Amino acid sequence: MIFSNILIEWYLQNKRSLPWRNTKNPYPIWLSEIILQQTRVAQGLPYFEAFTTEFKTVFDLANASEEQVLKLWQGLGYYSRARNLHAAAKYIVNDLNGVFPSSYKELLHLKGVGEYTAAAIASFAYDEPVAVVDGNVFRVLSRVFGIETDISSSKAKKEFQELAQELLPIEDPAIFNQAIMEFGATQCVPQRPDCSVCVFNTKCVALQQKKVESLPVKLKK
Ligand code: ADE
Repeated sequence: MIFSNILIEWYLQNKRSLPWRNTKNPYPIWLSEIILQQTRVAQGLPYFEAFTTEFKTVFDLANASEEQVLKLWQGLGYYSRARNLHAAAKYIVNDLNGVFPSSYKELLHLKGVGEYTAAAIASFAYDEPVAVVDGNVFRVLSRVFGIETDISSSKAKKEFQELAQELLPIEDPAIFNQAIMEFGATQCVPQRPDCSVCVFNTKCVALQQKKVESLPVKLKK
């Protein structure tokens, strides 16, 4: 069995039902990814509901005042995310005629959208085969494949990006990307993962070498 098949099978049986996963509309997908950048799912959910209720489309968000947007963001922290969100909405409406950017490359032009978020939106909304690499992905891949490169180095970023891209099935990038994040968030957790029930426990290098707790390697904070 190959990595992506095992992972996707696990995901289909274990995924949480989250509202931004039931859509191909880039607007709510983008909102969810910005909210979840520095925020856990449980904390982000009510904000996602509030934003999608108050601002049903990117036009509604663009037409809101900054004050309204910041008020709805209150309590989430990292307020630059809210300002960037609002600026990006205005850019989409005013400069792109309200048409959401539809490729990884174009998405990178939006304020607040970096490589990770662009890959997430491009794959979830448009099925573009670009692998997401975030903290969850570093942890899962470093453990399963026994990679000891320091994840705070730029070398690691390239190495993990290349590996994730190789593992990504081009016929289903959206599910694979959701699955690897979900796996990192709920199964291959930072502290004391329950490896006895893990679908990779017969092949996980970290488990075999008793390095689960010491991977990924992160030298700088
Ligand atoms: N964290 C970041 N993006 C996420 C997503 N799409 N689902 C769950 N958690 C996430």
